[in-house]
Amino acid sequence: MAGTGANTPWGGRFHEPPEEKVRRFTESVSFDRRLAEHDIRGSLAHARMLASSSLITAQECSDIQGGLAKIAADIRDGRFTWREDLEDVHMNIEAALTEITPAGAKLHTARSRNDQVATAMRLWLKDEIRAQQAAIRRLQGSLLRAASDQPGAVMPGYTHMQRAQPVSLAHHLLAYVEMLDRDHGRLGDAFARTNVCPLGCGAIAGSTLPVDREFTARDLGFVDARGRPRIAMNSMDAVSDRDFVAEFLASAALCAVHLSRLAEDLILWCSAEFGFARLADAHTTGSSLMPQKKNPDVPELVRGKCGRVTGNLVALLVTLKGLPMTYNRDLQEDKQRLFDTADTLRDSLDLMADVVAGAQFNGKAMRRAASDPSALATDIADDLVRRGVPFREAHRLVGTAVRIAQDSGRDIGGLEREEWLAISPALASAADLLRSGARRRLDARTSAGSPNPRLVRKEIARWRRLLRDEPPTAGHPKDTRDA
Ligand code: ARG
Repeated sequence: MAGTGANTPWGGRFHEPPEEKVRRFTESVSFDRRLAEHDIRGSLAHARMLASSSLITAQECSDIQGGLAKIAADIRDGRFTWREDLEDVHMNIEAALTEITPAGAKLHTARSRNDQVATAMRLWLKDEIRAQQAAIRRLQGSLLRAASDQPGAVMPGYTHMQRAQPVSLAHHLLAYVEMLDRDHGRLGDAFARTNVCPLGCGAIAGSTLPVDREFTARDLGFVDARGRPRIAMNSMDAVSDRDFVAEFLASAALCAVHLSRLAEDLILWCSAEFGFARLADAHTTGSSLMPQKKNPDVPELVRGKCGRVTGNLVALLVTLKGLPMTYNRDLQEDKQRLFDTADTLRDSLDLMADVVAGAQFNGKAMRRAASDPSALATDIADDLVRRGVPFREAHRLVGTAVRIAQDSGRDIGGLEREEWLAISPALASAADLLRSGARRRLDARTSAGSPNPRLVRKEIARWRRLLRDEPPTAGHPKDTRDA
C-alpha cells in the first residue's frame, strides 16, 4: 500500500510528503518551465522509440503524442496550470499527460529525469546558441555599416589611453567585428559538444529494457554533418555532464567582455573630451537634475552586465567542482545561470546592434584629434630607417626632437626645418612628413592588417561577402531538424 507521500511520483516508499519549506526550497518548476517545449520534444521522441521497440503499443504512442500536443498548446496559450508540488517541469508535464491518457503512465519507461533533463537542456541550448550566433551576426552587420559609412575617417589610435598612431574609425570598428567572429566560432564549438544525446542513459546505468538510443538521437536531431546519430557513450558521464553548459557560459562571458569593451569605447567617445560619437536619443537617457545631460545608459548597462555573465560562469564552475559521480541535485542550480546568461547576452547583443546603428560618428572631431603631429613620431623614425639609420638611433633622434619641442612649449609640428637639421641632417624632410597629415600617413602603411584605407576597404568587402553568403548554420554539424 502506498504511504501518505503517495501524491509524489516516488510516494510509494514514503510515509509523509515533503515539508512545505522543503518543497519550496527544492522546486524548480518556477524557472525550468522554460524547458517545456524541449522537454516535450524529448518525450515525443522517447514515445516513438518505445513504440518502435514494442515497449508500448502504436495506440499508446498515438495517445501520448496527442496528449503532449494538447499540453504544448495549453502551455503556449498560458492555459496550463503549473503545480509547485510537482517539483519540476518534467513531472508537471507527465502528470498532466497521465490525466489526459492512462498511456501517460508508460512514458517514463526506461527513462529517468536525469537523462530527461540533460536531453531537454541540450535541445534548448542548441536552439539558443543558434539565436545567439544570429544576434552576433546582426551586431557585426551594424559595425560593418558604420565602418563603410566613413571608410576614410582618420582617428587617433590609443595605447595606454595615450595618442599613439593614426588609425581609422573603420579599422577600429572592424577590430570588434573580428572579436565577435571568434565569439561566433566559440559558440559553434560549444554547439558541437552540446549536440550529443544523453537520452536512454536512464538514471545512471542505462536500462535493462531494449531501448534504441540511436533512434531517439536521430529523431531529435542529435546528428553529425553526415546525419549519423551522436549519442553519449558513458551513461554515468551522460547524466552528470554539464560541460556543455559551462562551455556556453564561458563563450558567452568572453563575448560579454568584448561587448563591454565596445561599450566603454562608445561611452568615452560620447564624452565632451572626445566628442567622437553621439548616440541616438532613443538609446540614451537624461538626468533628473542636470538639464544638459545625455547619458549613454545602454552601453553602461551592457558594460555592467558583463559582471553578472562572468559571475554565472564562476557560479556554475563552483557548483560542479567536487561533485561526486553521478547526478546530484546540485545540478539543478545550472538552469538559472544558463537562462540568465542567455537572456543577458542576447539583449546586450541586440541593443548594441541598435546603438551602433543609431550612433553618429563625428569625422571632423576625429580628424582634429588625429592631426596631433606627435602621433607621427614613429613615422619619422621609420623614414630615418629608410635612409639607413638604425632604428634605435632613429628612435633616439626623434625623441630628442620631441624633448626640444616640449622644452619650448611646442609639439614636434612646431619645429622649424633648421631645428630638425640641427638634430640630424637625416631629418631634413621631417617637417614635410608632418605637414602631409595623418590621412596621408595611413596610405603609407602597407603591412597586412594595417589601417591603410585600401586594405580596410578590402576587409569591409571581405566581411560583407562572408556575412551575406554564410548559410545559417555554416561550419557546424548540420541540425537535421532545421533542414
Ligand atoms: N529538476 C531536476 C534538475 O533540474 C531534474 C532532475 C531531478 N532528478 C532527480 N533524481 N531528482 O536537475
